[in-house]
Amino acid sequence: MVDHHVHRHTHMKKGVNLPPIHIIHVDEEHGCVSIKRSRPKLLFFITFCSVLSCVLLLLPSLFSSSTSSTFSLLYSYEGDDDGTLSGSKAPLCSSVSDGTICCDRTSVRSDICMMKGDIRTNSSSFSVFLYTSSNVSSDHMTAGDELQREKIKPYTRKWEPSTMATIDELTLIAKKSNSSNVENVHKCDVYHDVPAVFFSTGGFTGNVYHEFNDGLIPLYITSKKFNKKVVFVILEYHDWWVMKYGDVVSRLSDYEPIDFNGDNRTHCFSEAIVGLRIHDELAINATLMENHETIEDFHDVLDKAYTPRIQDLVQEEPITIVEPEKPKLVIISRNGSRAITNQNLLAKMAEKIGFNVEILWPDKTTELAKIYRSLNSSDVMIGVHGAAMTHFLFMRPGSVFIQVVPLGTTWAAETYYGGPAKKLGLRYIGYEILPQESSLYNEYERNDVVLTNPDSVNDRGWEFTKKIYLDRQKVKLNLTRFRKHLVRSHLYIMAKRNQARNHAR
Ligand SMILES: *[C@@H]1O[C@H](CO)[C@@H](O)[C@H](O)[C@H]1NC(C)=O
Ligand SMILES: *[C@@H]1O[C@H](CO)[C@@H](O)[C@H](O)[C@H]1NC(C)=O
Ligand SMILES: *[C@@H]1O[C@H](CO)[C@@H](O)[C@H](O)[C@H]1NC(C)=O
Ligand SMILES: *[C@@H]1O[C@H](CO)[C@@H](O)[C@H](O)[C@H]1NC(C)=O
Ligand SMILES: *[C@@H]1O[C@H](CO)[C@@H](O)[C@H](O)[C@H]1NC(C)=O
Ligand SMILES: *[C@@H]1O[C@H](CO)[C@@H](O)[C@H](O)[C@H]1NC(C)=O
Ligand SMILES: *[C@@H]1O[C@H](CO)[C@@H](O)[C@H](O)[C@H]1NC(C)=O
Ligand SMILES: *[C@@H]1O[C@H](CO)[C@@H](O)[C@H](O)[C@H]1NC(C)=O
Repeated sequence: MVDHHVHRHTHMKKGVNLPPIHIIHVDEEHGCVSIKRSRPKLLFFITFCSVLSCVLLLLPSLFSSSTSSTFSLLYSYEGDDDGTLSGSKAPLCSSVSDGTICCDRTSVRSDICMMKGDIRTNSSSFSVFLYTSSNVSSDHMTAGDELQREKIKPYTRKWEPSTMATIDELTLIAKKSNSSNVENVHKCDVYHDVPAVFFSTGGFTGNVYHEFNDGLIPLYITSKKFNKKVVFVILEYHDWWVMKYGDVVSRLSDYEPIDFNGDNRTHCFSEAIVGLRIHDELAINATLMENHETIEDFHDVLDKAYTPRIQDLVQEEPITIVEPEKPKLVIISRNGSRAITNQNLLAKMAEKIGFNVEILWPDKTTELAKIYRSLNSSDVMIGVHGAAMTHFLFMRPGSVFIQVVPLGTTWAAETYYGGPAKKLGLRYIGYEILPQESSLYNEYERNDVVLTNPDSVNDRGWEFTKKIYLDRQKVKLNLTRFRKHLVRSHLYIMAKRNQARNHAR
């Protein structure tokens, strides 16, 4: 049922050979489908999840003699000179001249190409042409000659070859031609007077973490400067994706997205960006943005996107009396692995402390606007580490996010959710459970490394992490220990409200 793939990635830069790392993807639980794709000479069995609850974890693994932070070592490079990991800092190709293709391949996370001029798509050959009449190249060229050819896969996981193997590749071709000729050989079916951004919704799309991390946030980063005057051209287009994220996409573009593979008409543009820029895990680096937007600005996009739907929902409901004085706490719950087995007691305790408690069971059919509504109106969100933690993006800055961190998931919990949540301005608490709070406590000897040294188990390889810590671990919170975090959070929320009230006076 469950599959995984692991690969090693060696990053070489400036003569520095970073240690190879294992990059691991996981899908967990039921509902994950295996997609088999064949490519010439190679068969890639790529598994990805089709449900929200699936999680991707990237875990470092020992390969050289360094510790389990090999991967963070790689990350520490992002502040470096050409910032290859965070996307280039002063983006190359930011001013591409007419009639040229400029590709920025300096980032290890994604490639991106810019084109300007007479741009025409040809989806049946997976290519985009740029016709140029200027004599950019040598004189002996005649009309129809190729000036430049670039290949690009417009997805932000360039550093994971096995993922990229599933992504459709586009060929960008600059050709010399004269205008009278072009209309004969490659006639435009649809003219667009705004630029295009090409990207793929393939890969790990289907997992909410990736949908935001590798989809919506990079799309925001790349297209924001056009202020909605942009057409999205989607490779590996999925109707469900457009349905699910339509509210958000329409806040980023005033135009209907184009299904590149499914629409064989020739679309013509005068400017195009192929591929998306990405900065970091669920993050936006304001210094790399033309107008210094932050992840909070992205949050505002979500707020605007969901407002109309939420207003409809409110109108459909009978008027209820709520107790506005009580802070609201939402528990994002899971069934099966990484469930909180004493969640009911947790909820009761939280109520006693003074919270209104709501329990959410997000699954793939849950409408995002509804999740947004719950979280936007709450003060505290609690959940066990997993892809659903991506929903911290729906919390208002200044609220509290408590992530319960099962044994063996400390690094991933911090890297993928804890750190990014702090960047959004949330008050983040990573509650690392003790061995006694893990269901594994009853399965292993007290001095077993599974309980005493999870890092050493993770270092053995991904299969171990997955089998032991992700697929089979449940959490029984020590409520005495957990309580103080709830009490403090309650105090914090109340203090914040008082402050706001005093300010308002
Ligand atoms: C943002 O990008 C700049 C320029 O590349 C870099 O110096 C800085 O460290 C980055 N900030 C973060 C928080 O990654
Ligand atoms: C578009 O691609 C198809 C299929 O490869 C090819 O037959 C056709 O000539 C191409 N059109 C142009 C204008 O290149
Ligand atoms: C293109 O070629 C023509 C004739 O050789 C020349 O007059 C013109 O300056 C060239 N244009 C550019 C942009 O190089
Ligand atoms: C443009 O192409 C047409 C058709 O191939 C040809 O007749 C014409 O001479 C070309 N014009 C120039 C300026 O190259
Ligand atoms: C484009 O697609 C339509 C519908 O699938 C098909 O009828 C038509 O022949 C295709 N045209 C080309 C040029 O491939
Ligand atoms: C989210 O909460 C804020 C603050 O209460 C409110 O102003 C905003 O309208 C809410 N957003 C939506 C989409 O309901
Ligand atoms: C999990 O279990 C609860 C309680 O039995 C149920 O209401 C909920 O629908 C289940 N959620 C999922 C995602 O299976
Ligand atoms: C729960 O935590 C408290 C405080 O940290 C500790 O004193 C107690 O022994 C723990 N209870 C269990 C059952 O482990």
